[in-house]
Amino acid sequence: MNDPNALAWDAPSLAEAFGARFRVGAAVNTWNLDPESPACAAILRQFHILTLENESKPINLQPEEGHFVFEKFDRFAAFGQANGIALRGHTLVWHGQVPMWFFEGENGAPATKDQLLSRMRTHISTVVSRYRGKIATWDVLNEVLRDEGGLRESRWYKIAGRDYIPEAFLAAHEADPDARLLINDYNLESSEAKADTMVSLVEGLLREGIPVGGVGLQMHLSLYTDLELLKKNVRKIAALRKLDSALRLEVTELDVSCYRFDDTAEDLDWTPALEEAFRTKYTELFRFYTELADEGTLDTVVFWGLSDAVSWLNGFPRRHKNYPLLIGRGWRVKPAFYDVLALAGNTEEA
Ligand code: XIL
Repeated sequence: MNDPNALAWDAPSLAEAFGARFRVGAAVNTWNLDPESPACAAILRQFHILTLENESKPINLQPEEGHFVFEKFDRFAAFGQANGIALRGHTLVWHGQVPMWFFEGENGAPATKDQLLSRMRTHISTVVSRYRGKIATWDVLNEVLRDEGGLRESRWYKIAGRDYIPEAFLAAHEADPDARLLINDYNLESSEAKADTMVSLVEGLLREGIPVGGVGLQMHLSLYTDLELLKKNVRKIAALRKLDSALRLEVTELDVSCYRFDDTAEDLDWTPALEEAFRTKYTELFRFYTELADEGTLDTVVFWGLSDAVSWLNGFPRRHKNYPLLIGRGWRVKPAFYDVLALAGNTEEA
């Protein structure tokens, strides 16, 4: 049954297996959408929601002020429409992969708050209105919190203070009132202070009537991630639904590195011990996801990349061979893939 040599496009479909509970997706690049490519075959079989890994970030969409480049995003949108695949928009406001002109004012001075907020609104309204009705969820804000708690002191924050946060949601909502609008971040599962800040920030926004649709949990994890702490922090964030039952969590960038973040180890070989640890981690994680889905809290789980061969974790935070996804090199699905699939069946019976 569980063919150890199955390739992603022949293996059973994660999307189908979990479809009743949550959408399963992946981050892709537009060159993966070529119908002749193995990547495309894998996508069509395994996933029913996609994110662009880089091509929809501000540096690529508006490299110069007023000069929008929509070709790739248009292709992504057309692919979604043609294949009935839902799409996520990643990301409107971030401190990374954003062109510097946003923050520059007259004669070498920094932009004023008004200038920055007006540029932000223009970016958001131009992009979101172009794809109105075609993007299920926007990561409106990405990584605006500090790991130690509190708001990140990014250029956005230094110039505009907290105000850019509600303003971004308002601009996105005006441009597409039906899209789900998320605030997305990493380490929410491992830093209590960060999870607490997320909770108080979203609470405040909801009280102000800001149209926050949910929280995106990136979930860049490792074999060393403490899953008890992860569950505790995610539950805290999920409790925001007491304030607004329409709020949802999405797992937006899942991967499980075999290195600790500060690990300087040479390339690790894929040993049976690592395989075992990886299977255990993924099984426990997906068990938790199905629980959250059954409670109505979580409806989307997106992997950050299509396969181990192309994962960003082969190059971040340093260059080393990594194995973070359920689809391995050569498009082979891993034993953990079947472990996860089996959960879809089991929990249905429960
Ligand atoms: C990463 C991409 O995967 C890389 O290709 C790129 O070089 C840097 O950005 N959090 C995010 C994503 O929100 O946008 C990042 O994507 C990974 C971390």
